[in-house]
Amino acid sequence: MAILDKHAILEKNITLLAIFAFLVVTIGGIVQIAPLFWLENTIEDVEGMRPYTPLELAGRDIYVREGCYVCHSQMIRPMRDEVERYGHYSLAAESQYDHPFQWGSKRTGPDLARVGGRYSDEWHVDHLRNPQSVVPESVMPKYGFLESNMIDGKYIGEVMATHRFVGVPYSDDMIENAQLDFSAQADPDSDYDGLLERYGEDSVQVRNFDGQPGISELDALVAYLQMLGTLVDFSTFTPDASR
Ligand code: HEC
Repeated sequence: MAILDKHAILEKNITLLAIFAFLVVTIGGIVQIAPLFWLENTIEDVEGMRPYTPLELAGRDIYVREGCYVCHSQMIRPMRDEVERYGHYSLAAESQYDHPFQWGSKRTGPDLARVGGRYSDEWHVDHLRNPQSVVPESVMPKYGFLESNMIDGKYIGEVMATHRFVGVPYSDDMIENAQLDFSAQADPDSDYDGLLERYGEDSVQVRNFDGQPGISELDALVAYLQMLGTLVDFSTFTPDASR
C-alpha cells in the first residue's frame, strides 16, 4: 500500500520525523493556546468576589511569608470526600485575585479554602500561639511572635498598586485610602463607613481580631483566615456554563 510506503520513509528518516513531529505539535499547541489571547477572561464571574481589603491582603502576605502553604492547600476538589469535609468545591473565581495563588500541593494540615467563620477569633489566636493547646496531636508550629509584630499598613497602598498592575481591579479610591481602610478594619470604634463602601457592606468583617490593643501581624492574619471562602453565597450559587 502506497501510503504505508510513504509513511515508512518518515519512520526511517530521523530528521524528517523530527520535522513532522514538530509541525504536528506546533499546530496542536496553536489550536489550544491561540484562543486564550483573544478571550478577555477565562474565569467565569461569580457574584460576591471582591479584591482583598488592605488588612486581609497584609494577612495574606504574612501567610505566604510564613510558608503556611507548605502544609495547607486552598483548593477543595470536586470529589465527594472533599466536599463533605470542607464544603462546596473551590471555584476558579475564588482565587481570581490571588497573586500568587495558594492552591498548594501538600496537605499536612487541612485545606483552608473555607476556614473563614468556622472558628472564633479567639480559637485562631490560641491556635496560632500554640496549636497543641487546642489540638494536642497537632504538628503545626507556634506563631505567637506574630502578636508582638506591630504593623501600620504604610506600605499596603503600594502593594495594592502592584496587584492592580497584574490585573486586580483596585480603584484609585481604594489605593488612596489603603492605610485608612487598613486601620479601620481592625478597630470597631473607628469610622469604617468608607471601607464598607469600597469593599462591600456584607462581606467585610470589622473587629479587633486578636483582641489586643494596636494592630499586629496576628490581627491581619486572622482577618485573612476569617474571610477565606466566605465571599460567595453558595446557598444561591448556580453554576452557569453558558457564559
Ligand atoms: C508543619 C505544617 C504546618 C504549617 C507550616 C502550618 N500548619 Fe496549620 N495545621 C497543620 C496541621 C497538622 C493542622 C491540624 C491540627 C491542628 O488543628 O493544629 C493545622 C491546622 C490549621 C488550622 C485549623 C484548620 C481546621 O480546619 O481545623 C488553621 C486555621 C491553620 N492550621 C492555619 C495555619 C496558618 C495560618 C499557618 C501559617 C502561619 C499554618 N497553619 C502553618 C500544619 C501546619
